[in-house]
Formats: sequence, structure tokens, C-alpha cells
Amino acid sequence: MSLSLISPAKINLFLQVEKKRPDGYHDLASLFQTISLHDKISITLSEKDTFTSSDPNIPLDGSNLIIKAREAFRNITGLKFNVSIAIQKNIPIEAGLGGGSSNAATILFGLNNLLLNPLTLNELQEIGSKIGSDVPFFLSEGTALCRGRGELIEELKPLKPESLYIVKPAYGLKTPLVFQNLDIETCTKCDLNEVIRSFYEGHPIYFNDLEKPAFKLRPELETLKNSLKSYGFEAVLMSGSGTSFFCINDTINIDNHDFTFISRASFLNRKKKKWYEIEKMLH
Ligand code: C5P
Repeated sequence: MSLSLISPAKINLFLQVEKKRPDGYHDLASLFQTISLHDKISITLSEKDTFTSSDPNIPLDGSNLIIKAREAFRNITGLKFNVSIAIQKNIPIEAGLGGGSSNAATILFGLNNLLLNPLTLNELQEIGSKIGSDVPFFLSEGTALCRGRGELIEELKPLKPESLYIVKPAYGLKTPLVFQNLDIETCTKCDLNEVIRSFYEGHPIYFNDLEKPAFKLRPELETLKNSLKSYGFEAVLMSGSGTSFFCINDTINIDNHDFTFISRASFLNRKKKKWYEIEKMLH
């Protein structure tokens, strides 16, 4: 019994940090959107547990969120099974694109499916929230307002699909370091309803409170943002804690420009009860 699933990246269309919590996390409000840039994961019930990756740079031990998801699923369900997992990595790491969290969510969904759905979606999200703040979002349908540490999901209806570029420099940034360098006093204080409405009414207000601390840590990021803006995109914004940027527009072409990582993508949503799928026309 085998499944081959895509594991999509996400971007944060806006990200507002609200406060630092006693447990060290930050409360935030962010509009998350899954995109067509994706890893591919094959999950096969088999004789023994195996885990392989196309990218030699990702760890294959218990620090990988895929292994955490497999073990959490096994512990909660009490089911005895062995599984071979193979991942083809395309989503860059330390990019703010949620690759590791997406992989964990995909494993939770895939194992549940292969083992005839012992858990509800809410239960999968509950397990996911213990693995990482962004994991529950990837079990949503792809457009959601995320609050708390990011694990409290309010599903929103799909936005008008946009095509975009993802651009990332060679270096990454670790999420905890970016949050540590945040000055809460300088964070945005927007009327969330108004900002959400702006995305549905066609005059989107893109912003990310994590840009400032990321630019403080890596001033080259601000230079990269400015050079991307100079192409005339409708919006250029860092995703999550960086270091990737998304550039929104379907008319500007930077395919031949020399960036360490560049990928075309588009917004992607999944249908209830189905997993994310890439249609042929999408990138
Ligand atoms: O939940 P996750 O493991 O992805 O978070 C990684 C780290 O990022 C946390 O340990 C914390 O330092 C920081 N973080 C935060 N506030 C959030 C999410 C993450 O401070 N809302």
C-alpha cells in the first residue's frame, strides 16, 4: 500500500507579531497561503521503517519533522506498522516557506489515509501543533488566518489565484534568531478585518513584521528586496522568518536572472477530503 503526495510550501501574505509570550513564543496574526512549489513524498507500508531524501543536507534522524510526525502518529493511534518514506526536496530550507512543517503535515495526512483514517482532521491538527507551530495550517485547505503561535487556524475561502516568483539567496536564517531580534514596539498594529478584506477586495495590504529583524541580521536581504522591487512587481515581501521573498505579478519575467534560488509558483488550495494536487497547467 503506497501513496505519492505533494507537500506544498507556504507564504505569509501578511504577518503581524502581537506580543512576546511567557513561554518564549510570539503571538501573531498571519494570512497563510499554500503555493505550488512543492516537495514530493512517497509513503509505503512496508516490512521496516526507512527514510530517504534526495537532498543530502537534510537530517534523516529524529530531528527531522517527518520522523517526529511518524512517531507521534504511531504513539497516538497505538497502531503497529512500518513505513518507507522517500522525499524529493525542492523547497529550500531556512527560507520561511514552511517546508519541514509541510512535510510533517503530509506524513500525518498520508499515514492516516493509508491506515483507513483512524484520526479526524482536528486530531491530526492537534498532533501537528505539538510538532511545529505551522504544521496545523498545512492540514487546512490552503488559505487561513493563523493566530496564537500560528497553530490556531481560521479557514478562509480561496483567494483569487496569483502567480508569483520565489527568490532566495544562498544563506538562510533560523526562525528563533529572527524572533529574538524583533523589537515588539516597532510591530504593526493593523485592523485585521480591514487587512483581510483588502485581499478579497483586490487592493491587498502586504506586510511582514519579521522583515525588520531579518534585515538587521542580514542587511543584504534589504538590498535584495530593493533590487527585486526595481523590476516593477506589484509586491515583493519576505515570507515568514526568511530568507525567501515572494514577488507577485504575472507579467514580469525574471526567469533569466541569476538568483541562487528562483522558482515560479502560484497559489494552491486543496479540496475538502482530498490532498493538494498540481494540475498540469500550474507551475
Ligand atoms: O513552533 P516552531 O518549532 O516552528 O518554532 C520554532 C521557534 O521559532 C520557536 O522555538 C520560537 O523561538 C520561534 N517562534 C516564536 N513565535 C512563533 C513561532 C515560532 O517565537 N509564533
